Amino acid sequence: MARVYNFSAGPSVLPEAVLKTAAAELVEYKNTGMSVMEMSHRSAMYEEIINTAEADLRKLMNIPENYKVLFLQGGASSQFAMVPMNLMKNSRKADFVHTGQWSKMAIKEAKRYGTVNIVASSEDKTFNYIPEFDTNRFSADADYFHIVTNNTIYGTKPAKMPETGNVPLVADMSSNILSEPYNVSDFGLIFAGAQKNIGPAGLTIVIIRDDLTDYSMDMTPTMFQYKTHVEGGSMYNTPPTYGIYFAGLTFKWLLEIGGVEEIAKINRQKAALLYDYLDNSALFNATVADRNHRSIMNIPFITGNEDLDKKFVKEAEKNGIVNIKGHRTVGGMRASIYNGMPVEGVKALVEFMKKFETENK
Ligand SMILES: Cc1ncc(COP(=O)(O)O)c(C=O)c1O
Repeated sequence: MARVYNFSAGPSVLPEAVLKTAAAELVEYKNTGMSVMEMSHRSAMYEEIINTAEADLRKLMNIPENYKVLFLQGGASSQFAMVPMNLMKNSRKADFVHTGQWSKMAIKEAKRYGTVNIVASSEDKTFNYIPEFDTNRFSADADYFHIVTNNTIYGTKPAKMPETGNVPLVADMSSNILSEPYNVSDFGLIFAGAQKNIGPAGLTIVIIRDDLTDYSMDMTPTMFQYKTHVEGGSMYNTPPTYGIYFAGLTFKWLLEIGGVEEIAKINRQKAALLYDYLDNSALFNATVADRNHRSIMNIPFITGNEDLDKKFVKEAEKNGIVNIKGHRTVGGMRASIYNGMPVEGVKALVEFMKKFETENK
C-alpha cells in the first residue's frame, strides 16, 4: 500500500526522508553492529547521538547558552505538574491564559500546588479565538505565566506572546515547536511532546533557563525535579534513547532544508492554500474567523451539517486522506499539517474538497 496523506493531530505524519533513514539504520546503526534501540545509553556511540541531537536543536532554535535542553519522558502532560512543582518557589501563584483543553489540564494540575489566576480566557466561545491579553490582570508576583503557543484542538495561535516582565513565561509548544521561529529568550521554560513535529511519542523536550532549575517543592519526586535531569545530562535514568535518536534525524533534516525560517515559509504556504480555499468555499468554513490568530499547524473546518461532515470524512479516507475527523469534543474536521506534511498533501486535500463541494451542492 502506498503512503496515505495522514492529517492526524498526533502522533502524526513524519518526514518520509527521516523515516527512510531510520529504516535503513534500524537493524545496524553505522558500524556498531547493533540497533540504536539495543545500545547502552552510556556508550560513546550513544553519547554522540544525544549530544548531536542537542547541538542541532540548539542551532535550529538558536537556544542561548544559559538555557538547558532536557530530553525527558512522561509527555507534555507530566510537565503540567512538573512546572508548578519546580517553579512555584515564592508566591506559589501562576497566571494562565486559558485557550482550550490543554490549558485546562495544566490549570487543573497547577491548582494542586498553588494558586491559579486566569488572566484571559476564550472558553465563552468554545475556544475559537485568542482572548486579549490585558497586562492589568497579570500578577506581578506570579512565579510563572503559562501559555499554549498553538491550540491543537481548536486551531488557534496567539499572534504575539504576552509581556510578562520578570515573570517567567512558560510555553506549551507541543503542537508548533520548530514550525516557525520563536525567540527562546522570551521564555523561562518551553516544553513539547515530540509526537507532532519531532518524532515518535515517548520523548518530551524541555528547554529551561538556568535560574529556574535550582528549586523544587520538598515532596517533588526525584524524577520530577528539573535539577535531577540537568545534573544527569538527561541520563539520570535510561532516557527514551530511540526517540532521541529519531529526533536527531528530524533536526538534521530540518537543518538541511534551511532550518526553522525555511520550514515556516513552507508551513505558511500550506496553511494559506487551505485557508484561502475555506474562505472562498460555499460549503466549508474555517471555525477560526480571526485571521491573525489562526494556527498554521491545525486547521479545523465544518460544513455546518453533521451528516455531510461524516460523509466527507468517510469519502476522504477512501481517497487516501486519513485522520481528518475533528477532535471528539468539537466534531467537524481538522487538518493537522505539521512539518512532515508535504505541500502536495495539502494540495491533494484541497482538490478533494473542491470535488466534494461540487458533488454535494
Ligand atoms: C498543546 C498540547 N499540549 C499537551 C498535549 C498533551 O501531550 P502528551 O500526550 O504528550 O501528554 C497535547 C497533545 O496533543 C497538545 O497538543
